[in-house]
Amino acid sequence: MIKVSAPGKVHIIGEHSVVYNKPAIIAAISRRCYVTAEKSRGITVKSPVLDGGVSFSAKEAKSLAGNADRLWGECFAKKDFMPLFKEMKKSRENVLKAGIGKILSELDVNKGASLEIDSGIPFGAGLGSSAALAVALPKAIAELNGKKLSLDELNDISYKLEQYSHGTPSGGDNSTCCFGNIIWFQKEPRMIKTVDVGKLEGFVIVYIKKPEKTTGELVQLVRNLDEDYRSKRMDAISKATEEMLPALKSKNGKKIKQLMNIAQENLAELGVSCKEIDEIAEAVIGIGGSAKLCGAGSGGTMLCYHEDANKIKETIKQLGYEPMEVELGVEGVRKE
Ligand code: PMV
Repeated sequence: MIKVSAPGKVHIIGEHSVVYNKPAIIAAISRRCYVTAEKSRGITVKSPVLDGGVSFSAKEAKSLAGNADRLWGECFAKKDFMPLFKEMKKSRENVLKAGIGKILSELDVNKGASLEIDSGIPFGAGLGSSAALAVALPKAIAELNGKKLSLDELNDISYKLEQYSHGTPSGGDNSTCCFGNIIWFQKEPRMIKTVDVGKLEGFVIVYIKKPEKTTGELVQLVRNLDEDYRSKRMDAISKATEEMLPALKSKNGKKIKQLMNIAQENLAELGVSCKEIDEIAEAVIGIGGSAKLCGAGSGGTMLCYHEDANKIKETIKQLGYEPMEVELGVEGVRKE
């Protein structure tokens, strides 16, 4: 039996603008997705989100992957991924089967596997639960079949899996879950650079609620905005991201807060915030801190910052939410 794990991630800054080739700073977090794999005749997957488990053949999985590839191509040509998202929403089971089919094709594996998924990353909350799984699953299947993959090769497969769920993701999520630490990420020209900002303290993550829309739907919503309106907000987030790196390195709390709040303001103007996020942002700014949504938005989690993290925790609790203890900048995918 082999066991692997990949961390979740949090965007310190740069979600959404990263889709438009702007940079993002993303940290791997100390909540991980674990996959254990054992040799087996067919394929069995056990996961808490699957009401027990599912069994299927490699042939069925590869055929579903072929269908997903075809639909993805059609959506890409029309620049509208709603038909893909609609199809994927119908059955979580089929998304997983298609994903496994894709992994088997990419790795040129025909053997079965008994897989068990156990994740400590809240599902669909902007913390990279799907990206961590998209990294851990191919890693587990590769290890089980004695296939050696470089991190770059693994990351390429993970990106293809992320495309099934999110259409045209930036690749920032899976790259962070794969490489770990804190990365400076840019889609095109492609850049995945580990940045050394020392230990990050004062950040608190808080779970708000199940997002109203999926990542793919929110990215599509932003894509449908007036181009000029959208570009102005993306440029503002990009400028804040550029300024964030020296602020993190020099532990300039005042600047970190200012830049996070600029990001949140612009994300709200792009229409990806929600009532609860706006309320928490206002309360946290009220005590001299900063707060922004994490990932695609419309719920999920928020990243808050204050030099005195206890102040954030108190405010969050007063508002009826539970702060999460999370370390930023942890190790990427690994064999346990
Ligand atoms: O919601 P998440 O955790 O999948 O993060 C999405 C981040 C976006 O920038 C909105 C999309 C992307 O592909 O980078």
